[in-house]
Amino acid sequence: MGGGAVTISFLENTSSMVAIADADPLVSAFWSVVFSEAAVDLADLIEETEPDLDLWLALKNQKPNNLLALAYKCLVLNRTSFSGIMNGQAGPIGGIKQQSEHTISCRFNATALSKRITELSEYRDRVLHLGCQDWRKTVSAIRRKVRGRARSRLAWYLDPPFFEKADRLYARFFNTEDHEKLRRELDRLPGRYVLSYDDVPAARAMYRDHPGFLRINLSYNARVDRHERLVAGEMLVSDIIARLRKKGALAPMGQLVVMPEKGRASQLTIRTLSAEELPVAQAAHGGTL
Ligand SMILES: C[S@@+](CC[C@H](N)C(=O)[O-])C[C@H]1O[C@@H](n2cnc3c(N)ncnc32)[C@H](O)[C@@H]1O
Repeated sequence: MGGGAVTISFLENTSSMVAIADADPLVSAFWSVVFSEAAVDLADLIEETEPDLDLWLALKNQKPNNLLALAYKCLVLNRTSFSGIMNGQAGPIGGIKQQSEHTISCRFNATALSKRITELSEYRDRVLHLGCQDWRKTVSAIRRKVRGRARSRLAWYLDPPFFEKADRLYARFFNTEDHEKLRRELDRLPGRYVLSYDDVPAARAMYRDHPGFLRINLSYNARVDRHERLVAGEMLVSDIIARLRKKGALAPMGQLVVMPEKGRASQLTIRTLSAEELPVAQAAHGGTL
């Protein structure tokens, strides 16, 4: 479920096969078109697009009946809607009146997007698209497809909907029971896994006792307004972290995973908080780390 940036990084930095699935028809269609012969059609459509409010409103109300149209709707709304939210109540960047400093097309670089689609489509032979489906079906499908010793070479990246406000962000989201089901399934997955969540109390409570639990501080621009630079936390749960911890290769808690501001995820470093940093970090996280 989800995980576009990680999938791309995997394709660019390894030679492994990748399988993708998402329960949202827009997201699912987008990836299936990007990694198909039809990517060229999507790239052409995007190259010709000059987003304005009329297009945004038309797409918002449109119910596409083919994959290409779904993929187009997904990408254009993602790049022109507030915080990239394609579903629900999120409005266009710059507001309905378009009176803000940033207007609807400010995140839409047609040429760059079109080029990126074409580049990514080159990886299509290594991408298996499992369709628009619930994550449990995806896990079963992979279990059926990958048998024997090959199962231990599987790597899962799970990027489920956030714990908080997910109903406002995604067409498909998780309730508490869904989050609990995922937690139960996690340690039964064959191979290795990395699960990422937003670092909020409910998510921490569910995973705090898991040996593969790690909190990360990230800084990122989730919004376009220059006053709204967000500093947000993420948490990871992974059997890889659990193993490193068991071997003593990771100190228990109070470590910092440092992501370069403009770097790739593979360039992140891990370091222990200094005596001066620790109280500051603890205060920023409501007294706990
Ligand atoms: C946090 S988002 C991931 C977005 C991702 N980080 C990206 O870069 O595109 C969570 C994703 O989980 C998907 N999702 C929600 N319910 C699901 C389900 N039951 N099975 C599979 N995917 C689901 C949503 O459609 C959404 O795309």
